[in-house]
Amino acid sequence: MSTAHKVTVVGAGYVGMTCAQRLCQLELCREVVLIDVKAGRAQGIALDLAQAAAIEGYGTRVIGTGDPARTAGSDLVIMTAGRPRAPGMSRSDLLEVNGRVVRSVAEYVRQGSPDAFVIVVTNPLDSMVQLMRQALGFPGKRVVGMAGVLDSARFSMFLAEAAKVGIADVDAMVLGAHGDSMVPVLDFCTVGGIPAKHLLPRSTLEALAGRTRNGGAEIVKLLETGSAFYAPACSWACPPCWGRAVSNASSSCRSIPKRASPCRRPPGRWPRTSTSCASWACTDPDRRRAPIAVFFSLPDEHPHRDRLLRPDRSPG
Ligand SMILES: NC(=O)c1ccc[n+]([C@@H]2O[C@H](COP(=O)([O-])OP(=O)(O)OC[C@H]3O[C@@H](n4cnc5c(N)ncnc54)[C@H](O)[C@@H]3O)[C@@H](O)[C@H]2O)c1
Repeated sequence: MSTAHKVTVVGAGYVGMTCAQRLCQLELCREVVLIDVKAGRAQGIALDLAQAAAIEGYGTRVIGTGDPARTAGSDLVIMTAGRPRAPGMSRSDLLEVNGRVVRSVAEYVRQGSPDAFVIVVTNPLDSMVQLMRQALGFPGKRVVGMAGVLDSARFSMFLAEAAKVGIADVDAMVLGAHGDSMVPVLDFCTVGGIPAKHLLPRSTLEALAGRTRNGGAEIVKLLETGSAFYAPACSWACPPCWGRAVSNASSSCRSIPKRASPCRRPPGRWPRTSTSCASWACTDPDRRRAPIAVFFSLPDEHPHRDRLLRPDRSPG
């Protein structure tokens, strides 16, 4: 069934087309199928990307389609279809409309790509991950969200700016849901290996955490139409959990570095003990292993311990 080198990107909007471009430019797979319900949209983007190959020199084949049958046998499905937020909207305002989109996509993914790994981008992210998993009936470890990577990237950028250092020197993470209840973990951020709390006042760190929680809305407000797409389209590629799907691909594809990233999982599958938080996952593509969990220990006195350990009921 599996051709071991096929990636489907559902939705050829801003996030989807940028995902497809990254897949091609990084040569992360042999074939990208871009699918959209809007007539001609995916086909047009695919043609454009195929022509760019003549300049960029990538060998990845891009197919644009509106036909779900063309997605069959995908190793990885990146779900970006659905409406983005407008200024003033919360992610949960999209629950109903995007819920319908997720259900319709799950139907053909379940039938045509039963072994696929699925990464959900569509908002409200946490609810859509859960819905996708239920609709697919796949094991929880094969259906993840990418927003922990995105939120951590936003937090890292704000931290680097405040500390006046290059972003490569910053190590920061955000756990929990992709919404107001997300938790930038201030005590564990480092700048050049030094805890950020020793370099910046607590009030500054709290302000950066607040800006991170509001990071998506800040961009929505500036853009006026649509939402962020460059960083979101990078974030799906980072969850190392999908390394398994891609590491099965041809040796001509680039190898995926081993990374540990915050990674949204459907609730219920992870031990939520008094000291661990199940937001981190990593895999070792070299050894072609399934994703493994890296449990992150939280001290009893951690100020956000209860929020991080409680099952998330927020819609995104
Ligand atoms: N989780 C995150 O961190 C994050 C970040 C950015 C965007 N998003 C979300 O990603 C989604 C896409 O954002 P965007 O900026 O690309 O929006 P967009 O409007 O540019 O693109 C969405 C595309 O989905 C297509 N579509 C709708 N229903 C479809 C279906 N059933 N099958 C295939 N395609 C379908 C539309 O025709 C459109 O081309 C939104 O829900 C947005 O909120 C999430």
